[in-house]
Amino acid sequence: MCRPDHFTVVYRINPWMDPQMPTDTSLAVRQWETLYQTYLDLGFDVHLIDPIEGLPDMVYAANGGFVIDNIAYGASFTFVERQPEGPAYMRWFRAAGFDVREPANVNEGEGDFLLVGDVILAGTGFRSASNSHEELAEISGRDVVTLNLVNPSFYHLDTAIAVLDDTNIAFLPSAFDEAGNAKLHELFPDAIIATEEDAAVLGLNSYSDGYNVVIASRAKDFERQLRERGYNPIGVDLSELLRGGGGVKCCTLELRS
Ligand code: ARG
Repeated sequence: MCRPDHFTVVYRINPWMDPQMPTDTSLAVRQWETLYQTYLDLGFDVHLIDPIEGLPDMVYAANGGFVIDNIAYGASFTFVERQPEGPAYMRWFRAAGFDVREPANVNEGEGDFLLVGDVILAGTGFRSASNSHEELAEISGRDVVTLNLVNPSFYHLDTAIAVLDDTNIAFLPSAFDEAGNAKLHELFPDAIIATEEDAAVLGLNSYSDGYNVVIASRAKDFERQLRERGYNPIGVDLSELLRGGGGVKCCTLELRS
């Protein structure tokens, strides 16, 4: 995770961002601290990367890479504003002992790559290029399933899919094209179908350990759906970070050694 000490919205690279709207960095930090504490209370081993001034989106650590089997596939950002984050995260991975693979293709890490069991779901359409899907398949030795995102408000895969455990997900059908919907229904016949209302507060942008699911506290339908399926939803309010177009999952990068 990356503390949002330098968080603000000064450019617009997704529809959630409005540089005219004032942001409250100290509120963002307080809300982020709640998420951090929630993870610590769940017993997670949380590592922090130092925030860099001038990189206001660095708080969205999910985009810093994709880590599997101690291999860290680096990020290569779409927009120039975030490009320095790629090398910054790779430096961190290297120092932490991960086997870093420099990316040849544009990709935004766990924003667009989600591991479900042994399969990687991979988004494209707004950020990560589809050739990065092939690159990751080669590096990880996993099957990578390409999904086309079609709604600019759900520009990263982790805004439209929540991984719940090794076999199930929740997703927002309208964020995908017909082929994507068909694939998701085939792979996950029991998937939770999210409501548009919950998706509109980035409710799907959540982190699950297989039982505890940390979600946006405003995603009330999702909370109920999770409870009905035997999960334990834990709501956290990250309203200030939503102004940058990110939520719980965006602030979280999983380190799989
Ligand atoms: N402002 C950031 C961007 O547009 C938000 C990134 C959100 N991260 C995520 N994993 N969805 O790139």
